[in-house]
Amino acid sequence: MASGSDVPLQQEQAIIALRQDMPALANKIYFNYGGQGPLPTASLHAMAESWRRIQELGPFAPPAFSYVGERITALRQALAALCGVPPQRLAFTENVTSGCVLPLWGLPWRAGDQLLISDGEHPGVVATCHEMARREQLCVKTLPVQDCWGAEQVLERLDEALQPRTRLVALSHLLWTTGAAMPIPAVGQRLEEHANHPWLLVDGAQSVGVVPLEDAVAAADLYAFTGHKWLCGPEGLGAVALSRRLLEVGAPTMIGWRGLAKDPERPLRLHGDARRYEIATGCTPLMAGLLQSLHSLTAVGDLRQRLALIRSNSGGLWRGLRQLEGVETMLPEAPPAGLVSFRVRGHTPRQVVDALAERGLVLRSFEAPDCVRACCHVTTVPTESERLIAEIASFGTNPGSA
Ligand SMILES: Cc1ncc(COP(=O)(O)O)c(C=O)c1O
Repeated sequence: MASGSDVPLQQEQAIIALRQDMPALANKIYFNYGGQGPLPTASLHAMAESWRRIQELGPFAPPAFSYVGERITALRQALAALCGVPPQRLAFTENVTSGCVLPLWGLPWRAGDQLLISDGEHPGVVATCHEMARREQLCVKTLPVQDCWGAEQVLERLDEALQPRTRLVALSHLLWTTGAAMPIPAVGQRLEEHANHPWLLVDGAQSVGVVPLEDAVAAADLYAFTGHKWLCGPEGLGAVALSRRLLEVGAPTMIGWRGLAKDPERPLRLHGDARRYEIATGCTPLMAGLLQSLHSLTAVGDLRQRLALIRSNSGGLWRGLRQLEGVETMLPEAPPAGLVSFRVRGHTPRQVVDALAERGLVLRSFEAPDCVRACCHVTTVPTESERLIAEIASFGTNPGSA
């Protein structure tokens, strides 16, 4: 850690220990936490141990079922607490996209309903809305938010775009491109006041594990996320928090045995709670891995302490980049979380990312809007940001000089 850091010694030691437990950070400078978080070795061991234990107990035998059930309950409680909802409102999924998409297919659409999707949404959700529109005779409209500066402007755009037949608004909590925070509670309030009370789908891919979620989850009908980005868990396990009204009205389209209530009187009855959206056999060791990743992050601090660290890291990088001639940051103010997006005059985002990759720095590029994205987590250290700033400075801002 850089000298002069004002991080308390105990926290600094916890960050060093976490970094040392992440093999992904040993041989490169990693700025792509928003793509996938590095997995702590402790989580890898927890998964291996879980697999071993399941084999020892079963695998398909009552003692293994109890063991599996305990892991499922523990993780459901932990993630529900993170979202500020009771466990009954949380369904496990495989990733962010399935958390967004599976409940959407089960909502009661009427021909002519309008789906309002922000221009900062991930292609999987956008493609699903278009296919749903094709099948159900809905119409899709785009809500432009990527060029907005601040909550007020987002709300103005929303007011302009809402129509009497709007039935869904899809908006990420933090835009994966620019890193801007969307005013989800205020959006939820607007939708409540709308005569049609449109559903609010929130993609939490870039916010979960970084910012407090309670208010945004309370405003959303579906708040979907994954364990494999900012929570630094294994890939293949996510969850979605569902609103009470969605649970009352929604009818799952993909149904499997895991969604059944196991009622001897009515064997095909679905669970009354969010578990009705779970389908069939899952991978319990992933749950042990994600639980361990949650513990590993907590060792650095609680969510608010970690957000302060993340913002200190992203703010330092944002300020450093802004001092460079020819570099434009996408946000006019220090980032609300860990994403720092920018442009380098004279170079396409792809050129910048490729040139950095050759020098051992991992970032990603976007085409719309065209920018480079660097992600700072609690494990980002000032020397890494300094190195990135120095590399960008060395490019020069004339075309082709990277
Ligand atoms: C905002 C956003 N939504 C969805 C996804 C897709 O995630 P998954 O593969 O977990 O569905 C990503 C991945 O980067 C993302 O950033």
